Amino acid sequence: MRTQLIAGNWKMNLTCAQALANAESLVKLIEQRPDVDVAVCVPFTAIGRVREALRNSSVHLGAQNVFWLEKGAYTGQISPGMLADFDVAYCIVGHSETRGRFGVSEVEAALLPYFAESDSAINAKIRALLFHSINPILCVGETADEWTAGTTEGVIRQQLEGALKGIEPAELYSFAVAYEPVWAIGTGQTCEADEAARICTLVRNYLADILDAEVADNIRVLYGGSVRSSNADVLLNRNEIDGLLVGGASLDAMEFARIVMAARHGG
Ligand code: PGA
Repeated sequence: MRTQLIAGNWKMNLTCAQALANAESLVKLIEQRPDVDVAVCVPFTAIGRVREALRNSSVHLGAQNVFWLEKGAYTGQISPGMLADFDVAYCIVGHSETRGRFGVSEVEAALLPYFAESDSAINAKIRALLFHSINPILCVGETADEWTAGTTEGVIRQQLEGALKGIEPAELYSFAVAYEPVWAIGTGQTCEADEAARICTLVRNYLADILDAEVADNIRVLYGGSVRSSNADVLLNRNEIDGLLVGGASLDAMEFARIVMAARHGG
């Protein structure tokens, strides 16, 4: 059985001091669940401090984005080698907020191109992370309009194909995919567990098709979008769902710990 992965995405929140306090509380709160993989994907500015807090704990350090080249004149970017320098274990790639696919957008249309990460950029980021043995968490998911139009399956297939193009299946053993319907992110509107499980199965079938069945069987497929402690157990009880990517609720260590406690036992 695949060990469930619960990953927190702190997004652009928390000062260094707040991040440190949150990480320290989390480490104490989840001591009794070594059978679950837990990661926190923190802002770049907090990576150094949080790394210290997580030392000697079972909680893994994660980042929220990466550039694909090692060095050069790329102002403002962070390379995979820089993440490896801090022992970063996981990195989110292709989040709808970096693809520019905001659900209920608070961002003006004119700003969207600044976020527009393409499938080929996502592919390059995944390759760069794998080279440094950092586990990518690839986000896929449809917008509200695509959901209404019934094109979810096609959108997800295309995102997976674009992200994984030309990558050797054998390199993807430590890889995870998060199904995050854009309309469910930060909206309080969670996808029903049945539907989340159906899409997670679809993702695994597509992975088997694009890669191979054995590799696909090892890849963890998570759900993300308005996860709270009140709905985590229904999602985590589904065999098709190998964990959760948690945004807002991961900012509160107690609430995030409750979500971790809801993971299936055994691993
Ligand atoms: P949310 O965000 O839990 O706040 O909806 C999830 C995500 O964006 O990864």
